[in-house]
Parts: sequence; structure tokens; C-alpha cells
Amino acid sequence: MNVEKGSSSENMTTKESLIKEIERLKKEKKAVVLAHYYQRPEIQDIADHIGDSLALARYAATLKDVDIIVMCGVHFMGETAKVLSPDKKVLIPDMAAGCSLADSCEASEFKKFIEAHPGHTVISYVNTSVDIKALTDVLVTSGNALKIVESFPKDEKIIFGPDRNLGNYINSVSGRNMVLWDGACHVHEQFSIEKLIELKKAHPQAKVLAHPECKKALLLLADKVGSTAALLSYAQKDDSKEYIVVTESGILHELQRTCPDKTFIAAPPEEAGCACNECSFMKLNTLEKLYECLKNEQPEIKIDPELAEAARRPIEKMLELS
Ligand code: 13P
Ligand code: SF4
Repeated sequence: MNVEKGSSSENMTTKESLIKEIERLKKEKKAVVLAHYYQRPEIQDIADHIGDSLALARYAATLKDVDIIVMCGVHFMGETAKVLSPDKKVLIPDMAAGCSLADSCEASEFKKFIEAHPGHTVISYVNTSVDIKALTDVLVTSGNALKIVESFPKDEKIIFGPDRNLGNYINSVSGRNMVLWDGACHVHEQFSIEKLIELKKAHPQAKVLAHPECKKALLLLADKVGSTAALLSYAQKDDSKEYIVVTESGILHELQRTCPDKTFIAAPPEEAGCACNECSFMKLNTLEKLYECLKNEQPEIKIDPELAEAARRPIEKMLELS
């Protein structure tokens, strides 16, 4: 297919023909497209399932009669899908779609950290490489972290990695004292408390929705702290009309689609005019790359089978417990 860029009407035709081709290729190749809520709107619209990290892992574990999974998200999400569906081809539109949080935890360093804390259960956030997962007893997502941590006895010694903000949040609501790895997400770390306070003053009726990867001071101002799916579900059931959203701004698409009568305001990034409340990794996936990826069946996520086996255990434990 000849994909040319030009005037806005040509671009519209390009977009429409890309969508048509993607739909055709999905059928022809028995492929399913999964997308995270931080993906570009047009990718969310064409996906067969959209969800938070937990939902995407669940879909990947239960998909039947499918040969190809295209993970429109970041690399660790593709790895999780591959671990849970080793017999399927798992593709990702752009292999460079990484995650700064996953990158803040390197396997040989994490191994040393575990060795320095003997007798501790290792709980890791799903935003990690497959190597970290293989060193972990049980994984969590932001959607089930509290439930899983609380499934352990109160005096269980626990290491939690890599997100210090999520770990701190779980410690504060569960009364635990987990030992935390010092990692963070570059998007959620940059939201400014001063700007949030200003925004709250300008919109006194607005409720604040925040992801637990944000710093503690911001979470203290939130009416709801939760995973992307939990924030969506809260806004859908709540009766307020206006919300300030303190997470990656891609979620506004699904918030606005499912709550058309409500107003959602993206919390501003620290620096005026920058797009740092967008995850540059998530935004690497485009409609063009999704089309190319389905057509050429690459880039493909491949994992050494032994490593995949070691990573499957803590993922399955998470799915059991959540
Ligand atoms: P969720 O599991 O809440 O969708 O979060 C994933 C993520 O990468 C947040 O930055
Ligand atoms: Fe990773 Fe942060 Fe992007 Fe989520 S928003 S995928 S944690 S870099």
C-alpha cells in the first residue's frame, strides 16, 4: 500500500486506508490487537481490547483461536503477553517502546539487592524486564498491588521494586514496611504539586484522579488513587462533572469517550509548554507502524524459553491472587 503524506484530505484518506488494511490483515492473519490506555487515540480505537496492565495480561492469558498478538503498549507488556502465550507470535509496532521505570531496575543490581535482604519475599511491579520477573516471587500491577501485598502475613518481610512511589503508597495504606527499590517513572515523577494546587483553585469542584506512580505529595491531594482502569471506573460511576487527571494524558481519550458529559483536565507538566505528561515510549506506536507490523509480522518479541518459564511463575501467581 502506498502511504503518502500531504494535505489534510490526503492524510484523512491515508488514515482511512490504513484502518481498512489493518482490519483486513487482522482477519487474514487471525491477529488480535491489544492496546493500553496511554496509546494514541487512533490506536485505542482500532484495538480489539484496551486495558490497564492487568487487563492486558489477562487477555493475553486467555486468548483462544488467535495466531498473532500485537501489543500496542510498551516492551514489558509485550514480554508479559509472550510469557503467557508462548505458542503465539507476539508483535510490537515499535521495538524501541521501552519504559523508564523498567529501565530503572537492572537485573544484576536487583539480584544484589535481593541478596542483601535474605529471608525477604520479592514482589515486583509488572513494569519490569523479563529478567527481573524471573528473580521475583510474585508480580503485581497498580490494579492489584494492595490486594496481593495484603495477602501476605502482616509480618512478612518484603522487598518491593522497582517503583518507590507505588511502594510508598502501598506501605502507607497497608501499614507495611516493605523495603523499596529506588526507581521511578519519568512521566509520573514530573507532575508539579504547585501546579496541581493552582489548578484545584481554578476548578474547586473538580475531583483529582491520580496514578500511584506519582509522588506522595500529589497522591495526598487525590480523591482517587488507582490504576488506569480504576481511575476510569471511578469517573464512570462517580457523579461529579469535572476531574483533574494526574497520569499520562492518553487516558483522556477513553475517559472522554465513556463519559462524554464530563470534563477532564490533564494535570500540567512541570515545564510550561512541554509534552512531558505524555509517555514518549507509548507514543512511539503509530497507525503506520501497526500496519507495517501486521504486514511484515515484525518486530517480534522473542524470549529464551528457560527465562520465559522462570518469569511465568510470578506472573501466574499474580493472576491467581488477583
Ligand atoms: P496501569 O497498569 O495502571 O495501566 O499502568 C501502567 C503504566 O505503565 C503506568 O505508567
Ligand atoms: Fe513506563 Fe512511565 Fe511510560 Fe508507564 S508512563 S510505560 S511507567 S515510562
